[in-house]
Amino acid sequence: MADFIKMNVRGVTLHSAVGDTLENNFDRHFRVHYNVQRDSYLTSLCETYGTDKGSFSMKGRPFKWPPHTYADFYERFFGHCREYVRNVFECGLGTNNPELISSMGVAGKPGASLRMWRDYFPNAEIVGADIDGDILFTEERIRTFQCDQTDPEAIARLWEQVGDVKFDLMIDDGLHTAKAAVTLLRNSLQRLKPGGFYIIEDVAFDMMVDLLGYLKKTSLNYEIVTLHRPPERLRDNSMVVIRA
Ligand SMILES: C[S@@+](CC[C@H](N)C(=O)[O-])C[C@H]1O[C@@H](n2cnc3c(N)ncnc32)[C@H](O)[C@@H]1O
Repeated sequence: MADFIKMNVRGVTLHSAVGDTLENNFDRHFRVHYNVQRDSYLTSLCETYGTDKGSFSMKGRPFKWPPHTYADFYERFFGHCREYVRNVFECGLGTNNPELISSMGVAGKPGASLRMWRDYFPNAEIVGADIDGDILFTEERIRTFQCDQTDPEAIARLWEQVGDVKFDLMIDDGLHTAKAAVTLLRNSLQRLKPGGFYIIEDVAFDMMVDLLGYLKKTSLNYEIVTLHRPPERLRDNSMVVIRA
């Protein structure tokens, strides 16, 4: 079933389908149907730490929306090589300041996903960045920095502070606008190791259209991954995956 999206463009309501848009922009696609593994290690870590990248328990969830199913995807890509992943970067620590955009809400657990990555990748150093300077922390194998991903100079300062590190996995779970995503990507891609993955999460339909407009002009090896999770609608449960 197509996921129809209602858009309001200059006062006119339009209906469009994610499937149509993707087919118009790509030559090929494939579908993977899978059964949920409720006891997957990564999903259990999502629940332990309170990130919305995947979860099953309704009770005690520190955010108000249905969880994403990214953990299913990450488990498929990294489950067999967890020990070999050495460096992970994520933009977006998960502020619990309700005044900030993209906040997880007052019950949110800042740093949840960084702790999840730290446990999942037992030999990796984790670097995190966020615009909210109040939630920064340092822990075993985790360092965090303040950075506004809409500001190229702030991103350059971030990389100076981080030092000479390249990453196997880089994730943008920050502001979730196309402009912010492109700014972070353009100023950070030099930090991706050959063979590494750069992933933009929470790509809703309008953001997907804008990102495709940008990506098509580049020579990047990119894919859109739409993660259906019935009975929920697709909403922002899509990712852009760029392979170095
Ligand atoms: C959805 S939360 C991240 C959740 C976290 N990754 C997790 O899975 O638990 C989004 C984060 O992006 C941060 N953010 C918003 N605007 C930003 C910007 N311009 N630059 C960097 N981070 C930003 C917010 O402060 C918030 O902490």
